[in-house]
Amino acid sequence: MCVLVGTCGYSSDRDEGTSVLPFDGISLGCDYNPEQWPRSVWPEDVALMQEAGVGFVTLGVFSWGLLEPRPGEFDFGWFDEVVGLLHEGGIAIDMATATAAPPPWLTHRHPEVLPVDREGRTLWPGSRQSFIPSSPVFREYALRLVEQMAQRYGSHPAVRMWHVSNELGCHIGKDWSDVSAAAFRVWLADRYGDVDALNEAWGTAFWSQHYTSFDEVLPPRITPAVPNPTQELDFARFSSDAWLDHYRAERDVLRRHSPGVPVTTNFMVADHQYEQDYFGWGPEMDVVSQDHYLDHRHAHPHAEQSFAADLTRGTAGGRPWLLMESATSAVNWQPVNITKLPGELLVDSLRQVARGADGIGFFQWRASKAGGEKFHSALVPHAGRDSARFREVVGLGAALAAIGEVAGEPVRADVALLHDWESHWACDLDSHPSGELRALDAAHRWHRALTELGATADVVHPESDLSAYRLVVVPTLYLCSDRVAPALEAFAAAGGTVLVTYFSGIVDGHDHVRLGGYPGAFRDLLGVRAEEFTPLPVGATVTLDDGGTADLWTEVLGVTDAEVVARYADGPLPGTPAVTRRAVSAGSAWYVATRLDHAATTALADRLTRDAGVARLDEPQEGVEVVRRGHFLFVLNRGERPVTVPATGTELLGGGAVTGSVTVAPASAAVVRGGR
Ligand code: GLA
Repeated sequence: MCVLVGTCGYSSDRDEGTSVLPFDGISLGCDYNPEQWPRSVWPEDVALMQEAGVGFVTLGVFSWGLLEPRPGEFDFGWFDEVVGLLHEGGIAIDMATATAAPPPWLTHRHPEVLPVDREGRTLWPGSRQSFIPSSPVFREYALRLVEQMAQRYGSHPAVRMWHVSNELGCHIGKDWSDVSAAAFRVWLADRYGDVDALNEAWGTAFWSQHYTSFDEVLPPRITPAVPNPTQELDFARFSSDAWLDHYRAERDVLRRHSPGVPVTTNFMVADHQYEQDYFGWGPEMDVVSQDHYLDHRHAHPHAEQSFAADLTRGTAGGRPWLLMESATSAVNWQPVNITKLPGELLVDSLRQVARGADGIGFFQWRASKAGGEKFHSALVPHAGRDSARFREVVGLGAALAAIGEVAGEPVRADVALLHDWESHWACDLDSHPSGELRALDAAHRWHRALTELGATADVVHPESDLSAYRLVVVPTLYLCSDRVAPALEAFAAAGGTVLVTYFSGIVDGHDHVRLGGYPGAFRDLLGVRAEEFTPLPVGATVTLDDGGTADLWTEVLGVTDAEVVARYADGPLPGTPAVTRRAVSAGSAWYVATRLDHAATTALADRLTRDAGVARLDEPQEGVEVVRRGHFLFVLNRGERPVTVPATGTELLGGGAVTGSVTVAPASAAVVRGGR
């Protein structure tokens, strides 16, 4: 039988939460693109939205071409009609600023707003998002439209939130044009003050790259050999900032004309779109929202979904957030687009609510009949209202309505998993010891192991306050500031458990190696010192003397102030340390110098979470996720058999009183008020 052990994360004596979202309860929503349909369909749309329990729609994301059909000529008549219908129907509007896709008249007049890729190829119109965020020309046209939108709809009672552009940086996270080159130089001058400081930071003594003026600096375009890594890293930082800057410019117009109405833009936290540093973006949002689609290119798509949700909560500073877009079934942009089986829509949606979402939105209301996304699922499929998919959507609407009281409740976790986009960008650059090592890989593996144990992790920035946690996992934090190791030392000294994995603490913020032995910043914390890395050939594995298996990475590791927990039994370094532990006052600091397989990762996570008193399932079961959100226990069963989990209280999805345990059918979920 399962029991929840530990107390820290599962206490029920905390304040009632208040939702930060401007919608009611746990709201169901979607993108609504009425311009793709004749007017006669719109009233039916609203009626069907009411039937499905849709509480909000995102309106106008791709409407620029029809709202401003000719430069400076605005046509809001049709849009007013849609806004009016939605308002009469009681549907709240998340109003987009409509700047995500410039119309052909703009790019025809001003081809200089078009982005350019690393190889120097222009990205032409005919799709969407063909603009450079730093382009002053684009900015002027975009802000003129935002001003019009804000003036016209800024105090409309149906408009509850503003949605700047759409997925800023999607498709074109970086732009290598001359326009961005100029903006990059301004950004660099601001960062470094003078060009000597840039030369020092970029290590330009290497390969004769010394600059005499900022005017000589370019974005890292295609080069004969490996480009300067700090130039690459700074260009990644600049690019994220350029998109954020565009967000701020639109937001400031909205705030002027529509005071008090919250502003958001939808983050892309999934790992195939990893170009924005959302820890810096979060504080600029009134509401944090993200888009997330199950990515079946992953071996474990649901685990990645959970990770992204926990990371989104991290960017929101732990507050509730909005899942702006997801899919009711298949997408259209993966090699094979997998359909959701009955029940999956509910479980996937509740996974997001369990991890802090106060609203569940979808792309899009009605499946398009034309255009590049016509085979993307929607709330109303091509088959229409009389379809299993629409009935399932209606069921989801009812389920979200039934758990409305969850809104605003905090997710509290005993584990912090440290994450840093800058570190990941730098880690994944070329010419490293192993091209097979990917920074996010370790984060995903440790997060998945913790999730399977029923232990919830906050995914937070390395310089966050760690005092509320029992266990801190530091997966492949290649780059970090000098502040991280002392904070971890203090956390351990206060009784916490720290676990650091391979290729962490290697470089400083300029991507310069920390000398004296690896893992640089964490040598003293961990009581270890490695002189060389010994990455393993693809497919090779090593065995540890505790029976575990690992691959990818080993190090010539010595201990200076730590006990050896496990050694290699074979491979290139037999008999040398693979896993170590240093006692730090009341706490401990562990080092894992190799990539453990899932069984060995889970075994170590099991030991650490128990030792640290982390709230978790005592006996995990396959396919089951258990998350405590405030006074509510979410039990999600993705497995093939019914599961029984200890709980007492009231099940909100129709189960009624729960005494002692709750049983959850396969492809189903339970939400128990009271929980244990
Ligand atoms: C994102 C975009 C939408 C749509 C979907 C497709 O969420 O914001 O416009 O393209 O992807 O999955």
